[in-house]
Amino acid sequence: MANPDLELKAFVSASGSAGTLGAGDRLKDDFGAEIVAVEALECPTMLYNGYGEHNIQGIGDKHIPLIHNVMNTDIVVGVSDQATDRLNLLFTTDEGKKFLVEEMGIDAEIVMNLCHFGFSSICNMTAAIKTAKALNLGENDVVITVATDGSELYESEKQQLLQSEFNSDFNMGHASEIASTFLKEINTEHLLQLDEIGRERIFNLGYYTWVEQQGVSVEDFDARRDQKFWDYLHTMTPAWDNMVEEFNDQTGVTV
Ligand SMILES: Cc1ncc(COP(=O)(O)O)c(C=O)c1O
Repeated sequence: MANPDLELKAFVSASGSAGTLGAGDRLKDDFGAEIVAVEALECPTMLYNGYGEHNIQGIGDKHIPLIHNVMNTDIVVGVSDQATDRLNLLFTTDEGKKFLVEEMGIDAEIVMNLCHFGFSSICNMTAAIKTAKALNLGENDVVITVATDGSELYESEKQQLLQSEFNSDFNMGHASEIASTFLKEINTEHLLQLDEIGRERIFNLGYYTWVEQQGVSVEDFDARRDQKFWDYLHTMTPAWDNMVEEFNDQTGVTV
């Protein structure tokens, strides 16, 4: 049964298309959740207007997606792919799992299930913890985030890292170092609580992609500053749901 004392404080999602982040609009309307957009620290488009390559697959395409409601976003967080790559080793190697159970005392069943977190899932979880720390959240405060996909998709990446960084000899000492650096010491670095100037700065960055490169009119681009635009868009979602269902019926996809 739901605990009536629980309060939703934040919705955290890394942004690829920013489709998932859209759930934040609803969670803010209904529960007052802060909306937290996450990106790879190695390609910090929102945080630092930066650029670069990273290995958190599925997120961050070096632009601000057209469907990202930037002016409703409250916090931006950068998570390093150093953390996601290495926590993936901690969560999925025999030595890593042994360390988590035997040295950190984490329940074996929980540890067994950590394989369900792929890179962007680990990124989301790390950002959720950073958010909870930055907002000084307590035991009755809830943060929602998403486990996007599982680690089994990234087996070749894992083997590559094991070979290049650990000479294929990953041990409990390595697991301990990873846990200390990337789990126990998760901090509030590279986290920005946005004010209006911060939101404007990120919103305006989208101009170059959408207006200059993709031919969206300035009027259509600017309309997205106003929450009424998004409120109107939300009234269309039942019709979109029907279209998705129709498509699935026609193509035999069941959900
Ligand atoms: C593995 C993974 N993580 C995160 C995302 C980002 O989700 P969204 O596109 O809804 O922002 C995607 C998107 O395809 C993905 O494939």
